[in-house]
Amino acid sequence: MADLRVNLFGLEFGNPVWPAAGPNVHNGDMIKRQVAGGAGGAVCKTISSEAAAVPKFHMMNLAKGRKAGMLNCELWSELPPDAWLEREYAIALEAGVPVIASLGYTLEEVVRLGRLAERAGVHALEVTVHYAKEEPWQVMRALREAVSIPIIAKMSPHDPATVIDLAVKMEPFVDGIAAINSLGPCLRIDIENQQRIMGTDYGYGWLSGPPIKPLALRIVFDLARSVKVPIIGVGGVRTGRDVVEFLMAGASAVQICTTNIYEGPACFKRITTELEQWLDEHDYESPREIVGAYPLRIGAKADEADGVGTKGRVHLEGPPVQVDPQRCTNCGICVTSCMHDALCVDKETSPEAVIINEQRCFSCGLCVTVCPSAALKLELDKQLGPAGAIRP
Ligand SMILES: Cc1cc2nc3c(=O)[nH]c(=O)nc-3n(C[C@H](O)[C@H](O)[C@H](O)COP(=O)(O)O)c2cc1C
Repeated sequence: MADLRVNLFGLEFGNPVWPAAGPNVHNGDMIKRQVAGGAGGAVCKTISSEAAAVPKFHMMNLAKGRKAGMLNCELWSELPPDAWLEREYAIALEAGVPVIASLGYTLEEVVRLGRLAERAGVHALEVTVHYAKEEPWQVMRALREAVSIPIIAKMSPHDPATVIDLAVKMEPFVDGIAAINSLGPCLRIDIENQQRIMGTDYGYGWLSGPPIKPLALRIVFDLARSVKVPIIGVGGVRTGRDVVEFLMAGASAVQICTTNIYEGPACFKRITTELEQWLDEHDYESPREIVGAYPLRIGAKADEADGVGTKGRVHLEGPPVQVDPQRCTNCGICVTSCMHDALCVDKETSPEAVIINEQRCFSCGLCVTVCPSAALKLELDKQLGPAGAIRP
């Protein structure tokens, strides 16, 4: 059975799946509940110089169900920093896992609170960089001089092109980089009442959960090619397979907020069990073995990046989409979504499987991803050989 323990920045975590800063870690007792639910470490709610006046309507489920994204305008901790320094961190530390205090936002605030949090016994500090008035690397440099515990910089995705530059500038002063914070501002409108839904001036909120996972993965992958410190993936993690994807992109651990809000602390046991099963099924003994497997396998280096990363194109030779008749149920879902009329269901001539017109197939790949029974296949990276052939 795979051993999920990970050692990062000199700290031993029970597993690489932790709560992210958010309402699920809004005080010490909540943090203990996260750990009881199976989290391998804990990040606390962000604190700042004063308690936040959190707007009234500040969390919105974007489509009913646990797979949906979320809009929020929650701000930082509703507790004053003294409450954390005198009580909540001590309670959180009773959970017995590494506890990471989250700090915002100006250089002066971060340095002052960082010193006090270190004195309160937390194991590491995470700094949210997006509201800092100073250059984020200056904040990190000042904090580095002020404390001796590990520092993690948490990146915002707002200008993805500059995130990597920023991370590279901060790297000399930090022990790890977490990516990403929620994305926005975004907007939803209550059309019946012609009103705001989120309680900010214009109803703006920030997007999190599964919809931001591809952006978070892209940033983690770019970071993995650009910095040497460990990366913590955050954004849309919902399953053990999501954790595997983040580890392969280059993260050494992940944090979870939205899924954690929808499902509660029990999500950690479920997700770490799924992770363990995946590792066992694929003959890996530790999550460490797959960290950065993707950039390694496709041979991607930072200096080869074109800045946007979409210039390169894979020109496919060989057959277009192929169907596995054992799996196909002839349901026709792929037919409806094929804009090239390359697929059809004809139960008379082909009772077992959908028919593919190879002349018409444009190899767009959409049918492969809409098929509910994984019956369609379009191979892209054949030249790399079977997965697992290259290991970091
Ligand atoms: C309601 C809510 C409150 C959040 N509060 C904080 C916070 O105080 N500090 C912070 O750095 N990030 C905060 N975040 C961002 C999350 O930590 C995380 O980076 C983001 O939501 C992406 O992860 P997810 O898709 O798993 O939610 C918050 C997110 C949500 C949804």
